Amino acid sequence: MNGPDQKGRAMPESSVRRPLIVPSVLPADFACLGEEVRDLCAAGVDRIQWDVMDGVFVPNLTFGPDVIASARSHSTVGFEAHLMVVNPDGLLSTYVDAGCELIIVHAESCTHLHRTLARIRELGARSGVAVNPHTPAEVVAHVLAETDLILAMTVNPGFGGQAYIPAVESKITRLRRMIDESGHSIELEVDGGITGDTIGGAAAAGADVFISGSWMYGCPEGKAAAVKRLRDAATVAGAAA
Ligand code: DX5
Repeated sequence: MNGPDQKGRAMPESSVRRPLIVPSVLPADFACLGEEVRDLCAAGVDRIQWDVMDGVFVPNLTFGPDVIASARSHSTVGFEAHLMVVNPDGLLSTYVDAGCELIIVHAESCTHLHRTLARIRELGARSGVAVNPHTPAEVVAHVLAETDLILAMTVNPGFGGQAYIPAVESKITRLRRMIDESGHSIELEVDGGITGDTIGGAAAAGADVFISGSWMYGCPEGKAAAVKRLRDAATVAGAAA
């Protein structure tokens, strides 16, 4: 807990969250991933997200574990794997062994979500659960004790460069309240269409971890400037909420 507010009430941790900026490497030049990872670390990112897609859960196919493992030694920050796959249970240890400290599975692809999240922790990684735009917040209500991160998708997963879905912000606020009331230390991440302009709405709604791919890679002033702009905008919006 933090110091008291103006009325002497103890401030919950969530009221002074430091926003984390995490790039998706989906827009990167896959022919030079080591250099791309070093570039992101130099830009001041907090972690790096690998969008793992199987071509079935989402209509795209991306990184296997060997690709991620090959980039691991080039990074000074942690890796997270966002598993957009129909059978995450069969892949958990593979992506932990590839060097991912955080494994995010989709609630929509887990028959036994409670068991899957517990298994991720048994493997020594932090656990995360993602929910697509149509999935209600309540789907994670009974697994908060097993979860280190909740990812509220702000696009329909599968591709970068899509438009942010503002309607998800009400769900972000609901998730923030569920997390704060639970007393568990859970990061609330958003992913999809996060730019210098949309990040404020997500932060004000209660998010504290922000995935950005195409906007960060496309920023004319470079990735370091993009990271700073995202972090500053999220800090201001989160504090004002
Ligand atoms: C969708 C992907 C994207 C990516 C970020 O499945 O998960 O959300 O990480 O894409 P941008 O930031 O380009 O919308």
